[in-house]
Amino acid sequence: MFKKLRKMLPVMRPGHWLVFAVIVVVTCYWLLEIRLEHAFKPLSKLTDNGGKETEHSSLARNIPTLDNFDYEDQLVVVYNRVPKTGSTSFVNIAYDLCKQNRYHVLHINVTANMHVLSLPNQISFVRNVTTWHEMKPALYHGHMAFLDFSKFQIAHKPIYINLVRKPLDRLVSYYYFLRYGDNYRPNLVRKKAGNKITFDECVVQKQPDCDPRNMWLQIPFFCGHAAECWEPGSDWALKQAKHNLVNEYFLVGVTEQMYEFVDLLERSLPRIFQGFREHYQNSNKSHLRVTSSKLPPSESTIQTIQRSKIWQMENDLYEFALEQFEFTRKKLMQPDNKHLQQFMYEKIRPK
Ligand SMILES: *[C@@H]1O[C@H](CO)[C@@H](O)[C@H](O)[C@H]1NC(C)=O
Ligand SMILES: *[C@@H]1O[C@H](CO)[C@@H](O)[C@H](O)[C@H]1NC(C)=O
Ligand SMILES: *[C@@H]1O[C@H](CO)[C@@H](O)[C@H](O)[C@H]1NC(C)=O
Repeated sequence: MFKKLRKMLPVMRPGHWLVFAVIVVVTCYWLLEIRLEHAFKPLSKLTDNGGKETEHSSLARNIPTLDNFDYEDQLVVVYNRVPKTGSTSFVNIAYDLCKQNRYHVLHINVTANMHVLSLPNQISFVRNVTTWHEMKPALYHGHMAFLDFSKFQIAHKPIYINLVRKPLDRLVSYYYFLRYGDNYRPNLVRKKAGNKITFDECVVQKQPDCDPRNMWLQIPFFCGHAAECWEPGSDWALKQAKHNLVNEYFLVGVTEQMYEFVDLLERSLPRIFQGFREHYQNSNKSHLRVTSSKLPPSESTIQTIQRSKIWQMENDLYEFALEQFEFTRKKLMQPDNKHLQQFMYEKIRPK
C-alpha cells in the first residue's frame, strides 16, 4: 500500500510524510471520538453531565438575544418612595416631563397603602412590569418595600432608585402632615385634622403618634418583603437594608441634596431623566409640597428621640446612605472638581 502511494506521490519528502501521518492519526481519533460519544449518548443522558451539550447550544442561541436587548427603550426604573422624603416633588418633575421625553410614569396603588405585596401580587407585579412593553421606558413609583425581581424567573431586572431623609425630620414632617396637610392638596382633610398637640407635647406625653417605633420605615423599605424587615429594632433588617442599598439600588439620594440626586440621574439615565435638572431649578411646582404648620422639635425632644434604639438604627442607615451618595457624587468630578471623569478603551489587541 505504501509502495503504491509512493508511486502516486513520487515527489513526497520525509517532512511531508510526517504531516500526512499526523493528519491521518487526528482524523481517526476524531472519528473514533464521535462514535464513542454516540455509543454513550443514551447513558450520558441519564447523568448530570448529559445536559452539558444542550446547555452549550442553548447558551449559544441566547447570546444574540442578549446583545439585541435595547437598554434605552426597555428602561424600567422603580422608585419605591418612602413617605415624607420629598418624593412628591421628584415625582412631579417626572410627570411634567414624561410627554416631552416619551416615557411613562405609573403609580403603584396598593390596597390601603400597604407597603408589602401579597405573594400573588408580587408575581403579577413583577411579570406585568417586565412584559408591559407599551409602557417602556417607564418610571414606576409607589410606597412599596423593595421587591427583589431576581426571585421570579425574570431576565432583566428594573433599575431601583430611592431617596432617604433624616429620620427625625421625616417623622416630624409626617406628624404635622397628618394634622395640617400640606400646600399640595390644602383642602384634603387629613387623618388627624383638628388635633392641635405639638410634636414636643406628644413626646412629653408619650403618645403613640410620636413613638420612635414609627421611625422604623426607611430600614424596612430598603430591607424588603421579609418578615424580619418589619421587626422594629432588628439588626438583621438593618444589615439587609444596607446590603440592598449598595447592591440592588442604582442610586439612593438624600432629601437634603435633591438637586445633586437629580443631576446624577440625568447624567446616568438621560433616556428618562433628560431635562430634570433644569426643571427642578426653574419650576415652582417642584418645590411645592411643604407640610403646613410644621414646628421644629425642641432640644429636649431631640435628645429624647435620639436616645431611642430605633432612631439610632434608622440614623445609622441614613448616615450610611449619605456617605454612599456623597462618595458617588464626588466621583463624578474628581480629581480636580472641574472636569467630568472620562473613560475610554486603549491598547486593544490583536489589531
Ligand atoms: C388607590 O385606589 C383607591 C381605589 O381605587 C382610591 O380610592 C385611592 O384614592 C387610590 N390612592 C391614591 C393614592 O391615588
Ligand atoms: C399589566 O397590567 C395592566 C393593568 O392591570 C394591564 O392593563 C396590562 O395589560 C398588563 N400588561 C401585561 C403585559 O400583562
Ligand atoms: C409658577 O408656575 C406657574 C405655571 O408654570 C406660573 O404661571 C406662575 O407664574 C409661577 N409662579 C412663580 C412665582 O414663579
